[in-house]
Amino acid sequence: MDSGLKNRVAIVAASSQGIGRATAEAFAAEGCRVAMCARNVQTLQSAADEIRKRYNIEVLAVPLDVTDPVAVHDFVAAVVAKFGSADICVTNAGGPPAKAFLSTTLEDWKKAVDANFLSAVYFAREVIPHMQRKRWGRIITITSITTKQPVTDLVLSNAVRAAVVGLVKSLANEFGKDGILVNNVGPGYTATDRLKELAKSCSAASGKSEEEIFASWSADAPLKRLGDPREIANAIVWLASERASYITGQTILVDGGMYKGL
Ligand SMILES: NC(=O)c1ccc[n+]([C@@H]2O[C@H](COP(=O)([O-])OP(=O)(O)OC[C@H]3O[C@@H](n4cnc5c(N)ncnc54)[C@H](OP(=O)(O)O)[C@@H]3O)[C@@H](O)[C@H]2O)c1
Repeated sequence: MDSGLKNRVAIVAASSQGIGRATAEAFAAEGCRVAMCARNVQTLQSAADEIRKRYNIEVLAVPLDVTDPVAVHDFVAAVVAKFGSADICVTNAGGPPAKAFLSTTLEDWKKAVDANFLSAVYFAREVIPHMQRKRWGRIITITSITTKQPVTDLVLSNAVRAAVVGLVKSLANEFGKDGILVNNVGPGYTATDRLKELAKSCSAASGKSEEEIFASWSADAPLKRLGDPREIANAIVWLASERASYITGQTILVDGGMYKGL
């Protein structure tokens, strides 16, 4: 099935590792030109080099922190200067720490808002004018299953990511007339470094081993396993593709069926 994505320009934020990296790679496999960013320059450059070589496509990789609005502005400007447009923008950032409410500090809340909400605002306001000019665009936010079903001790994620869903729905309503589709993807438990960190803190809090924690996460999903980052990336690429051209304002969970609601 032709995705219609060849030669599109795909920005993937926070993409040197994990779900972001798998997403950058999945767009590269479709023949997109890809723009990647993350804070650690070595990890970013080595991810970008591998993708460039494997798919023989152009990759722009810029080290930056997605919580810095000036850096995001300059990054999108550099993407447009190099590739001529910003067709697809996937927002992403590292997840907030696992904490129960009374253990959180005001600093934790501010950091979670910066990384997991405002970073999406920063990218959206930079890319939308370019998408409007082409009358075509895709914005896809990476959030979490917590947008539908709160997870114990992830109060920062449970609360802050809801704002992203409000943003996604609002942007979908406002910019649908310009051919811009805006959707949200919520991963369930997915095998990345982030999950190893979460397992460590859950293990410390509960006294269970990290293996037991991983086993309980797998057991919680009807598919009885963790997700692979490539499975999240595939859903994101599909949402960006011409095959999903009448879908906007939605949250799609890629969680092996873990969400318990209807
Ligand atoms: N894995 C899961 O099970 C799961 C489940 C639900 C939701 N999620 C959410 O999905 C998102 C991605 O998770 P992941 O598992 O792929 O994480 P990960 O493996 O820890 O990778 C995070 C990536 O984001 C980059 N990054 C982090 N903070 C950044 C910042 N402020 N500015 C720029 N780049 C930044 C990291 O590189 P640098 O550190 O070099 O910047 C790295 O490339 C997170 O928000 C996470 O909470 C994950």
